[in-house]
Amino acid sequence: MEGEPVNVKEFQELARQALPKMYYDYYTGGAEDQYTLKENVEAFHRITLRPRVLVDVSRIDLSTTVLGYRVSAPIMIAPTAMHKLAHPEGEVATARAAAACNTIMVLSFMSTCTVEEVASSCDAIRFFQLYVYKRRDVCAQLLQRAERNGYKGIVLTVDTPRLGRREADIKNKMVAPQLKNFEGLLSTEVDDEEGSNLEAFAKETFDDALSWRDLGWLRSITNLPILIKGVLTREDALKAVEVGVDGIIVSNHGARQLDFTPATISVLEEVVHAVGGKVPVLFDGGVRRGTDVFKALALGAQAVLVGRPVVYGLAAKGEYGVKRVIQMLKDELELTMALSGCSSVKDITRSHIRTERERLQ
Ligand code: FNR
Repeated sequence: MEGEPVNVKEFQELARQALPKMYYDYYTGGAEDQYTLKENVEAFHRITLRPRVLVDVSRIDLSTTVLGYRVSAPIMIAPTAMHKLAHPEGEVATARAAAACNTIMVLSFMSTCTVEEVASSCDAIRFFQLYVYKRRDVCAQLLQRAERNGYKGIVLTVDTPRLGRREADIKNKMVAPQLKNFEGLLSTEVDDEEGSNLEAFAKETFDDALSWRDLGWLRSITNLPILIKGVLTREDALKAVEVGVDGIIVSNHGARQLDFTPATISVLEEVVHAVGGKVPVLFDGGVRRGTDVFKALALGAQAVLVGRPVVYGLAAKGEYGVKRVIQMLKDELELTMALSGCSSVKDITRSHIRTERERLQ
């Protein structure tokens, strides 16, 4: 690729050039046939826009709030594991970029910088993502550390009782480093000669008995608001509201878990309807353009989270690369709003888009 990237998709090629193949494949890949990986992006292409004209768009306000926290735009950083495999400064660089862009970063439970290092590096609003391990004491300790260090919310990932089958990682015999957060608590190094060490680690460590009942346990060990990440159906959205979560993230884990789940953008509205405004609904999966953010907001998301493009920005250009990725999405969203007749995010409504089903009717 020649010259500076002009859209977030172009960071992928820069990341490919910057990274060892094993890590690039880890960041890029999806589960099994990668049907859902493709769909997450392509389903956005099947939604078209219904712009309104002759609206005063001389001032556009992208800002919004998420769980009461003001952010410059409805674009947040999704939890993605092990940023030091992408860049030596790891999650600290990502957090600084989040602070510079005035948005929220969700720190992965599987981070390569500690909860404390990230907290002391900048004043970004941070949420902490949680995987529940069989060693519940380890989770409780990590949560307490996050709470003590000013993290503002817990994102409980619920789509990972086991790790999805990512065949590139199996072929590459993907090796995960010892994760610093767990030093003195738990070894994250496993030796699986056969395939992905990460998969072997997850199999040994993740608690596949986790169920709705455990939300009570989580409530008992934290005062922070709890969002659940990985909801794809009306049934689970209703259940989540019933057990009293503070927010829902519609996500299929960037298509890395169960292949042949639908694209997240195609189930967003189902979840939004089920929730009926009782708690905020956030969204991730396949967001690569400002128009994608606009479409997700039109379907009822309060904000979107971005996964791979952030990692690609980090791999290509460190903190600056992450800032560029967020800024590009913000600029594109602002232009989309101007050209659609929306001067604030509240103005983006369902009538600004047309889904494929509506077009065929
Ligand atoms: C993830 N994701 C993820 N989710 C989570 O809850 N905890 C984690 O540690 C990770 N790790 C992770 C690593 C990598 C390399 C990727 C690509 C993804 C899923 C992530 O939060 C998010 O759901 C997706 O990345 C969103 O899709 P896009 O934006 O990557 O298409």
